[in-house]
Amino acid sequence: MNNSLKAVEISKDIYWVGAVDWSMRNFHGYETSRGTTYNAYLILDDKITLIDTVKAPFKDELLKRIASVVNPAKIDVIVSSHVEPDHSSALPFVTEYARNAEIITSQPNGLKGLTARYGHLKYKPVKAGDSISIGERVLDFVPTPMLHWPDSMVTYCSEDKILFSNDAFGEHLATSMRFDDENDLNTILFEAKKYYANILMPFGKQALAALSALGGLDIRLIATGHGVIWRKNIEKILDCYSDWASGEVEERAVVVFDSMWGSTQILAQTITEAFARRGIPAAYYDIKSTPMSDIITDVFTSKYLAVGSPTINNQMMPPIAAFLCYLKGLRPQNHKGFAFGSYGWGGQSVGLVEEELKAAGIEIMLDKIRIANIPTAEQLEDVTNQILKFE
Ligand code: FEO
Repeated sequence: MNNSLKAVEISKDIYWVGAVDWSMRNFHGYETSRGTTYNAYLILDDKITLIDTVKAPFKDELLKRIASVVNPAKIDVIVSSHVEPDHSSALPFVTEYARNAEIITSQPNGLKGLTARYGHLKYKPVKAGDSISIGERVLDFVPTPMLHWPDSMVTYCSEDKILFSNDAFGEHLATSMRFDDENDLNTILFEAKKYYANILMPFGKQALAALSALGGLDIRLIATGHGVIWRKNIEKILDCYSDWASGEVEERAVVVFDSMWGSTQILAQTITEAFARRGIPAAYYDIKSTPMSDIITDVFTSKYLAVGSPTINNQMMPPIAAFLCYLKGLRPQNHKGFAFGSYGWGGQSVGLVEEELKAAGIEIMLDKIRIANIPTAEQLEDVTNQILKFE
């Protein structure tokens, strides 16, 4: 075991004891290009309390960091904010040491989820308004259902003004520095937006409810489950969440496409240029070149979405089908879009793309653009004019 792994004190007697996953690049489909962290926190009070664990392969890192300040066998309370295994799968390893620890979890879904995964441990289910004293501190539990699982909850410690927020306000970012102001703010905010777009987008209503429940709290630190701990930019990240949860979109366009022999690509270029001529900034994404999670991040706050595919075997290109399936699951709001593509014969793909856009809740703003073979100069001019003139 690596003895250099130490706890990091983030407030008096409160330590970060999590793990840094520098190499993670795919989090069940979410391309985590900057890795991630699994954050856990240890509070040294009359009752020694651990808030969350880490993903099981990182259990030794967690235990080592805990052991750098206290014997893990002395843990009295473990708060399990969320059953998803990136936070809970080291729990059975921690309880091998902390044999008498009481495990706080949400009622009923946390209890159900932990029992299903780890069997009958010493659980203490809690609900909205419940709190426990751990000595000088009281921990208040606030359920945040569907942010992003039914069991999710956050914990507030008023004595230290710390919100232990688990997945909320986090980002997938591996870093050696624990606080927001020790990292590049633009990078953190991009990754926080990417996290929201790819994980929390369908749950705007629940996010607004959670923000309202947390609204009256005096918060000095937001100790997240992933990425940095917010201390300098708390208002900024709360404002971002408020905007993102509201589903507000900007006057921007995203053009995403796949191409076989370049004709759909020419259409994508033409559409991108036409948006720009109209004064609407447009981003151009070849689906083969950009991770889907990054494209979705841009789609999330862009009002317009154009999706293009040629026809292959009477279908759209499979990467575009995957993109549209992913988009549909995220239930985007307040977007307008259209389908485009070239074809040799048949040409079914564009209609199929349009149907999927509708199914994803995108309002169709232009009739589908279908061009046989290679687009001519006149056809491209017509495409440009359609973009320039749409209402
Ligand atoms: Fe970070 Fe939903 O787990």
